[in-house]
Amino acid sequence: MCGIFGIVYSEKSPRPLGAVLKRALERLEYRGYDSAGVAVAEGGLTVRKDVGKVAEVVARHGVENLRGAVGIAHTRWATHGKPSQANAHPHVDCRGVLAVVHNGIIENYAELREELSKRGHIFKSETDTEVFAHLVEEFKKGGLDTFSAFRKAVGAIRGAYAIVMVDAETPGVIYFARNLSPLIIGVGDGFNVVASDIPTVLDHTKRVIAVRDGEYGYITWDRVVIELDGVLQNPLERIEEIPWSAEMATKGGYPHFMLKEIYEQPESLASTVSGLEWRLLEKVAEMLLSSRNVYVTAAGSSYHAGLVFTHLLPRVKITSTPVISSEYATYEELFDRGDVAVAISQSGETIDTIKAVRAMRERGVKVIAVTNVVCSTLSRESDVTIYTRAGPEIGVAATKTFTTQVATLAAVYVSILKTLGNNVENYERSLKTLPNAVRKAIENTAGSAKALAKRMDRPSAYYLGRGAAVPVAMEGALKLKEVAYVHAEAYPAGESKHGPIALVDEGFPTVFTFSDPSTREKTLNNVAEMKARGAYTIGVVPAKSDIAKKLDWAIEVPDVDEVVAPVVYITPLQLLAYFTAVERGRDPDKPRNLAKTVTVE
Ligand code: G6P
Repeated sequence: MCGIFGIVYSEKSPRPLGAVLKRALERLEYRGYDSAGVAVAEGGLTVRKDVGKVAEVVARHGVENLRGAVGIAHTRWATHGKPSQANAHPHVDCRGVLAVVHNGIIENYAELREELSKRGHIFKSETDTEVFAHLVEEFKKGGLDTFSAFRKAVGAIRGAYAIVMVDAETPGVIYFARNLSPLIIGVGDGFNVVASDIPTVLDHTKRVIAVRDGEYGYITWDRVVIELDGVLQNPLERIEEIPWSAEMATKGGYPHFMLKEIYEQPESLASTVSGLEWRLLEKVAEMLLSSRNVYVTAAGSSYHAGLVFTHLLPRVKITSTPVISSEYATYEELFDRGDVAVAISQSGETIDTIKAVRAMRERGVKVIAVTNVVCSTLSRESDVTIYTRAGPEIGVAATKTFTTQVATLAAVYVSILKTLGNNVENYERSLKTLPNAVRKAIENTAGSAKALAKRMDRPSAYYLGRGAAVPVAMEGALKLKEVAYVHAEAYPAGESKHGPIALVDEGFPTVFTFSDPSTREKTLNNVAEMKARGAYTIGVVPAKSDIAKKLDWAIEVPDVDEVVAPVVYITPLQLLAYFTAVERGRDPDKPRNLAKTVTVE
């Protein structure tokens, strides 16, 4: 949800600023693609910004030709004010010396704007961000130096923000502040950078410092200054080495990140499974077994991974409540000491999930995080963190992070079984052989998914399953909606008779998932019912079974253990969504209106 970047070089180091800003915009495009812009503060302020995709804006405004030692960049996912050149970031003050980029929402911007307008400030955009530039200008006018004015402006705003600012009157400095929206500093040799995410920093350095909520400060090429409530922090103590490489976040010959990330799943699962810390999982198992109530909270695909987990827990007699993180308030009164929550988020920055976790911890709930990002807010703010090892995921629709989450939660389940004294050798073997099963599933079904995509020409589709297959159906439907813009609804197959079936007519695509062995027979009854009404029945089915014959189109996958089956069964549905998007001329990496990490409520 908006991407921000800033870099400051020493006088002596090579400074390919234009090329670096272009690259940063490309990296950050997945976070927002309504508009893009850059500012360079050297010998005055230069701002280039416009609506459109990064490539268009960069070419139209000659971003690559910009020179200097300090630059900032922004890709926008619009919140306040429609996508337009005026509303694109950076935003400047009246004198045109300050440039600000921002991710988040300044909640009290309307009152600040009114106040500043009364004082003669002229606004050029409809955004909440622009007030910040004028606010700093106002405080500077009152006699404060830039950093003091910046600090005071940060104190005057409310809401979620990651803000980066340059002042042409203090060249060589980038100011920043963070509250709820992610912001990371990269510590380099002869330069320092600041950005919304790790992949963007990785082009320059692996050494990062995560800026924490409420912190603000500035970077020069050789200094990182961070304050919290006026107190100087020691950021160098917090430097972490990131275990990803810059190449991991490139397309590597694939036409889209989404396809690359689908094909990467065997590797990401292999590193996740081999990297499991079983001691930690034992501790997690004990926490879950001894808890009063278990909550599982997340958003989007991560929520679906959570639902796969909540379908396993009854087998070990654990009752759990799945909580869509933006809806946590419904359950808030219940949160209490003695409860345990599992919070799942690939980015570890989704604001709704962070807020749910904070509300839970405030009431004494212990939180187990499952995340893919090492220095994320979620991992810092949880009692225990289990890392998935999917590597950076750039495609907006989650694929490899979803399957690594499901595999990780399956391992937690296995660990619970073990703690209860069960023999889990079979399950451990299933986890180890899972990457291979997924490789086969992808290789054997890609052709079929591509051919089927040509037939997905209706405006709507159903995804149905029973039992533990329901969350698989939900994730399959979500993928199709997200990237192909086809209305897809998931239902427990039995429930489809209570309304949804009314829409079914000749050729209506109905996708069945058979990942749960205990419900296969009943699901076949639902296939027959749908067929009788003319539906075009599609199914992801176990290989070498009779199920395929009962469907109009069957996609066969290796028949793996039920505990890991959701991972295998989702892969053809990811491919189906991908190929349907391509068939319809959509860009699956940048679905309209979506953002990779949602940092506004
Ligand atoms: C956004 C993304 C989804 C993702 C969800 C949760 O909506 O587009 O792909 O599943 O956020 O993200 P998280 O980082 O918390 O897993």
